[in-house]
Amino acid sequence: MYNLFDVYPRFDIKISKAKGSFLYDFNGNKYLDLYGGHGVISIGHGQKEYIKAITSQIKKIGFYSNSVNLPIQEKFAHKLNSISGYPDYKVFLCNSGAEANENALKLASFHTGRKNVIAFRGSFHGRTSAAVAVTDNLELSAPINKPCFKVTFISLNNIKEARHAIETTNPAAVIFEGIQGVGGLDYPTNTYLQQLEKLCKENNTLIIADEIQSGYGRSGKFFAHQYSGIKPDIITMAKGMGNGFPMGGVLIHPDIKANYGMLGTTFGGNPLACASGISVLNVIQQKQLIDRVNKINLFLLKQLKEIDSIKKIKGKGLMLGLEFDFPVMELRKMLIADFNIITGSSSNKNLLRILPPLIIKKKELNVFPNALKSCLLKLKSS
Ligand SMILES: Cc1ncc(COP(=O)(O)O)c(C=O)c1O
Repeated sequence: MYNLFDVYPRFDIKISKAKGSFLYDFNGNKYLDLYGGHGVISIGHGQKEYIKAITSQIKKIGFYSNSVNLPIQEKFAHKLNSISGYPDYKVFLCNSGAEANENALKLASFHTGRKNVIAFRGSFHGRTSAAVAVTDNLELSAPINKPCFKVTFISLNNIKEARHAIETTNPAAVIFEGIQGVGGLDYPTNTYLQQLEKLCKENNTLIIADEIQSGYGRSGKFFAHQYSGIKPDIITMAKGMGNGFPMGGVLIHPDIKANYGMLGTTFGGNPLACASGISVLNVIQQKQLIDRVNKINLFLLKQLKEIDSIKKIKGKGLMLGLEFDFPVMELRKMLIADFNIITGSSSNKNLLRILPPLIIKKKELNVFPNALKSCLLKLKSS
């Protein structure tokens, strides 16, 4: 890795290809993917319809900018509107999660004319300037990222604290994750979100739901906040949206009006991204992936609950965190070395994060609980 800027701690495996829920290295070894490359792989690696959609699109037109009409964008937006349960929301397309949040925060500020924001302890919203300012991790901010707006971090599920922060800082928006990813799988309760929505409406503050990791069916609903019945003003998406094709998006309440030039991007909404996005939504629908997520969740939880060393199982659907009373790095290394199983981490060092492709089968997942037990025994005896 001599030529690459060395910012990622990486496992020592060299991946050459992938199919379904598995990755393969250059020696032909097969790895079970329980991390989906940061929760990006939704409909599975190398999915047939996905490959067909991208290859047939590139033969027609791979790219043009937003200076002309690209009907495939409308097709994508129409499909997203109907599947997501937000038929009347407008869609803005961009390229990544941070960019989706950056645009969401700008929109909230344009719409309200305000600039303060409320975010949550443990949050991660990306690395661009506004997104990193509402991320609860100072280490990710360079001096240049010092925000020119006030960010108040509050605790999840404490409505008194939210009321005080909203009433004293007059914020443009409150931004929350459907389920916190990097922070360690905590999430707002349904009652809390309902109270927060009421509070925000009373104070003309917008609610931004960051569903970049928890969206697209991963939680067992299309968006995790849909467990609560609230309707955020702005919803951001990325990861599962393009199944690996870089793509981000913002769903925007129809009361928020667009002006030429207020947002923009060169690559956002390009035909290849839209073709990928349409095929992802088709597969989610045709294979009833959200129902499958719920079934697989029950199957997995039943087995994991029998493992005493797991102190807590956090998250929903196929966005799960297994909390232990020791740091999980060695355990994760052992799962790869002994069983070829790739898992994820979080800012909570004791938490193992599981974000498999949503198409994972029971028989593929079945090896995981036993592998985990075996590694835990080995760790105990070492
Ligand atoms: C909840 C959440 N928001 C935003 C982001 C940033 O997305 P990206 O890395 O595509 O900029 C992430 C990435 O992990 C995320 O999990």
